[in-house]
Amino acid sequence: MSTPNQDLYQGDILKTQSPDFPIEKVNDFANNLYGLTGKLSLLDSERDQNFRITTETGDQYVIKIANSAEDPAIIDMQIKALDHIAMVDPELPVPKVLLSRNGLTIEQIQADNGTKHSLRILSYLPGYPPDDDPTDYALLRPIGACLARLALALRGFFHPLANYELLWDLKHTTKLRQYLPHITDIKHKELVSYFLDRFDQNVLPVIPNLRAQIIHNDLVPDNILIAENDPGHIVGIFDFGDMVHTLLINDLATTIAPMLRGHADPVGTAVEIIAGYHETIPLEDAELRILYDLIAARLIMLNVIAFWRVGIHPDNREYIIGGVEETWTTLEAWRALDPADVTRKFFRICGLWEEEELNPPPKVVKETIQSHMTRRTRLLGPCTYLFYDQPLHIVRGEGVWLYDIDGNRYLDAYNNVAHVGHCHPHVVNAIAKQARQLNISTRYMHGLILELAEQITKRMPEPLSVCMFVCTGSEANELAWQMSKLVSGNGGALITKFTYHGSSDAASQFSSESIPPENLPPHVQTLFAPTSDTEFRKPDSGISSSIMALGEHGYQPAMLILDTAFVSDGIYTSPKDYLKTLFAKTRAAGGLCVADEVQGGFGRLGQHFWGFQFNDVIPDIVTLGKPMGNGHPLSAVVTRPDIAAALASERGYFNTFGGNPVSCAAGLAVLDVIEKEALQRNALEVGQYLREGLEEIQREYPVIGGIHGSGLLLGIDIVKPDGALAPELADHIMNQMRENSVLIGITGQHYSILKIRPPIVFQMEHADMLLAVVKKVVEEL
Ligand SMILES: Cc1ncc(COP(=O)(O)O)c(C=O)c1O
Repeated sequence: MSTPNQDLYQGDILKTQSPDFPIEKVNDFANNLYGLTGKLSLLDSERDQNFRITTETGDQYVIKIANSAEDPAIIDMQIKALDHIAMVDPELPVPKVLLSRNGLTIEQIQADNGTKHSLRILSYLPGYPPDDDPTDYALLRPIGACLARLALALRGFFHPLANYELLWDLKHTTKLRQYLPHITDIKHKELVSYFLDRFDQNVLPVIPNLRAQIIHNDLVPDNILIAENDPGHIVGIFDFGDMVHTLLINDLATTIAPMLRGHADPVGTAVEIIAGYHETIPLEDAELRILYDLIAARLIMLNVIAFWRVGIHPDNREYIIGGVEETWTTLEAWRALDPADVTRKFFRICGLWEEEELNPPPKVVKETIQSHMTRRTRLLGPCTYLFYDQPLHIVRGEGVWLYDIDGNRYLDAYNNVAHVGHCHPHVVNAIAKQARQLNISTRYMHGLILELAEQITKRMPEPLSVCMFVCTGSEANELAWQMSKLVSGNGGALITKFTYHGSSDAASQFSSESIPPENLPPHVQTLFAPTSDTEFRKPDSGISSSIMALGEHGYQPAMLILDTAFVSDGIYTSPKDYLKTLFAKTRAAGGLCVADEVQGGFGRLGQHFWGFQFNDVIPDIVTLGKPMGNGHPLSAVVTRPDIAAALASERGYFNTFGGNPVSCAAGLAVLDVIEKEALQRNALEVGQYLREGLEEIQREYPVIGGIHGSGLLLGIDIVKPDGALAPELADHIMNQMRENSVLIGITGQHYSILKIRPPIVFQMEHADMLLAVVKKVVEEL
């Protein structure tokens, strides 16, 4: 393989006349060398001679006769690149190379005047050239994404000749100066000089620092094909003739530059293409910082080379300078922009901040806990409540670990919101990716909301097939309440003795946890949760007398609402027939049954995905929240179509943020992780292991009374030697565990029950750590 004479090469290839073989001759080549016969038609080319051949069987190929100045070794590089792409990313729609009868990928042919040419035949890619309508945005992101995929496919490819000097390589923009005399218009010459100066100043010095590889270097609408009636679906990529080893970012500038022509909003156009690219190959700061100048460089390159070549090939003038006027206009518009502002927009679409924005001078705030607390109460009001005698200032989370401001690490056995682990990368990426693309209310069609609704409802029993999105558990329960009142025509609510269902006006009235029993409003009556004490075993857990009490106040039940994990009541699951009985009694009195899965849902309980599944019942409404978005505010109400229809016909429902695409992306990612990491099974197995470990400690230390709950949601009764509840001890144990870097909570009507509710990625080794600390703390009591 010979190394092309570099100086000669760059000039020759663009100066030398395209091949001009008569069609009959090309037919002969196709037949003799490849055994192909068919109808030939000429295709456009800047410097080669290309034909399409359609055989009698309808198969189509492209015959490419290279310019005589084209080094066969360079063509060999292109052919090997196509092979490499087909191996790495077979879905990328690039042509395949046909082998000749001699088993060669390139055949050498000779013209009558003696010039030698390389001939190759490629598969013909079906598809349509994209419309060049400048108001059409449909192709922008896809072309960016396609370019990045192509670059990714070429990342591992190399060829000894890839470093050849090609004038179309933006790295060599400075060399365009020698062609400046070909531009006669003073204004245009000044414009070119302006951008050449910028290139020399801003781009040249950083070239050695930038990512480099072999790139396609000409992925523009002229070199792609799209599907019929689908401008965003690229089905063909061709013309690898400008492929070269150069800066990776040149690829993007080369694609963007010609696509700005005719666009009223060139920056908006560029930003879309960049966004598509960045999703596959995240761009680096240094690349984004020179992109404005590289795009300009490509635009001036298009015109400078066109003017130079038109002098050499005057007969081809129309083809060569077809787009120059529009390019000048685009360059003028580009120059009128503030480069810093354009660059800021490029950074923003990639979710990046420029350095000055990212690293403002550090604020030196060294605060004592006391001064932080004072400031907190002043700014947030006195309702803010913090865990532990020594409150924590957490700054980072990862999996089951939390890190405080001093770098101390805590095992998190409390936070159920971070269901699949703090900052799970799949969820974080899904949120970030969608936030970069779009976040909008549900007033517009969007695929993600339907996808999430499908994923949720497919996990529910029939006929719970409608999913309405809200942002918090309180809103979900508020909506469930509205629906229940509407459908039942009643106004009473049935709840357990010590429960929590939210903070809205209605939901707080169902939150017996925060209201002394005597202050509960008359439309709310309580029944027994299936707690450790056996009161709930009294006939029908007290629901009949509650319904009666409602009646005495002039109410009939609109809804029974139950936290299916009974977390505030002390953490329990429904024993056999518990829910069945309550549901039957409620329905008989005309009310609806609501399963509040804000705590118990999404696999935490191990045995079942939802808490209500511990009994053979189907609720009328299921409310979801907390773990659903792994910390992103996402909740939902799942119900029957007739109930949703009743609400729609009465007043409808809209929630600005509920079901926005970013939230839905988070929700889908959470479900994905639960499934892929088999987290429900993990909750079951690790939960069981943890329970057995606790039972072992219980046998040795009677301060541990009953252990209840399921999966990774466990309640541990703390009792005095005489068996009486011991809230002070429970509080002490919780705080001592925090001092030993394990975070748990307390719950139950008397706050005497330890609450263990970790992210469900909790492993056996974490259970061991927790057990060791429980043991140490109870030993020290
Ligand atoms: C069972 C239950 N339902 C509803 C809610 C209210 O959810 P949110 O705080 O998201 O409004 C909670 C919150 O702790 C809860 O535990």
